[in-house]
Amino acid sequence: MSNMPDTDHILRQSAEQKYATELEQLKQQDQLLKPTGWQLSAHAVRQFILGDTALNISKKFYGDDALVDRALVTLMGKQGLMLVGEPGTAKSMLSELLSAAIGGSSQFTIQGTAGTTEDHIKYSWNYALLLAEGPSEKSLIPSPLYHAMQHGKIARFEEITRCPPEIQDVLVSLMSEKQMMIPEMGQQHSLHAQQGFNIIATANLRDRGVHEMSSALKRRFNFETVKPIKDRTFEIELVQQQLKQELKDLYKEVKIKPQVIELLVTIFNELRTGQSLQGANLKTPDAVMSTAEAVNIAHAASLQAIYLGNGELQAGHLAQQLLGVVFKDNADDAKRLRYYLDTVVKERARQDNDWKAFYEASREF
Ligand SMILES: Nc1ncnc2c1ncn2[C@@H]1O[C@H](COP(=O)(O)OP(=O)(O)O)[C@@H](O)[C@H]1O
Ligand SMILES: [Mg+2]
Repeated sequence: MSNMPDTDHILRQSAEQKYATELEQLKQQDQLLKPTGWQLSAHAVRQFILGDTALNISKKFYGDDALVDRALVTLMGKQGLMLVGEPGTAKSMLSELLSAAIGGSSQFTIQGTAGTTEDHIKYSWNYALLLAEGPSEKSLIPSPLYHAMQHGKIARFEEITRCPPEIQDVLVSLMSEKQMMIPEMGQQHSLHAQQGFNIIATANLRDRGVHEMSSALKRRFNFETVKPIKDRTFEIELVQQQLKQELKDLYKEVKIKPQVIELLVTIFNELRTGQSLQGANLKTPDAVMSTAEAVNIAHAASLQAIYLGNGELQAGHLAQQLLGVVFKDNADDAKRLRYYLDTVVKERARQDNDWKAFYEASREF
């Protein structure tokens, strides 16, 4: 028996576990100059995130290649990287991929909440040791950010705008001085960040606004807005790929026609943009119509098809998930969706069996 954790069966692997082979391969081949403290060159990090068919490196982030380049340049410099956008636009994913590729670990992560304190960001104490021996390296409990500074890695700060602004501001001096004062261990005592250290923060536009962030802190970051995927072909490809990943072994138990995924992506795309493919204006719902949400729906609908149906994913399953799960709690959204169903979807249902199945299943709600 080995003591190694069975990483194939844990519910969610970190990016560095999931893509260990790709990262190793890139490391072996990487001949280019690496920024100090990075384990890969910027070019190799780019290949890792955007994919490279010749090297058999999978494409992971779809849509905005230039954003990845700008993110890399930011991370080489003095400022931190702030990824802002709607929920489900792959901000967290991108921050995880970047930190895994640049420093080899995406685990130095602080999750911002209303209850985040200065201790979560800096360090706390083992009080038994503190009382017995006084403040020392031994009695200090480092935060993930402390670790990242100490080892020259990327720290991730998720959902930073959920923290009260005065807590966010703990980062200001830390980012400009690249050191963390530890006054308990003496007036001058501080931790100096190793080269390679930087911060990637993410912020959802639907949370407390970024505008409440102090201007001092804003100046320490380069802001990048991550937008939903525009290209329908890309989004279809991504949903298919992710669905396969989510279903794992179950994937072979379900028959999925490409047209059904296309239908789902079209619906999300139209509701998200407030425009049908034919150019009709629609009301956009409050519900999050992200790619990630489309994958969730396709996943749930596939389980339904496997365990409760005949093994074929049908448009009707998607309608049930969409209406029964996403739209059930919001009456205004339900109205907006009803309008969409009774105009755009109904029209298509005349000519296409999948749209027809979707429309008919939706009438049960
Ligand atoms: N542009 C994109 N490229 C690749 N995957 C995407 C993209 N947009 C969304 N996704 C998918 O959506 C998932 C959820 O994204 P996540 O990083 O949690 O979003 P956020 O942090 O912005 O709320 C990602 O893990 C990925 O599977
Ligand atoms: Mg996130």
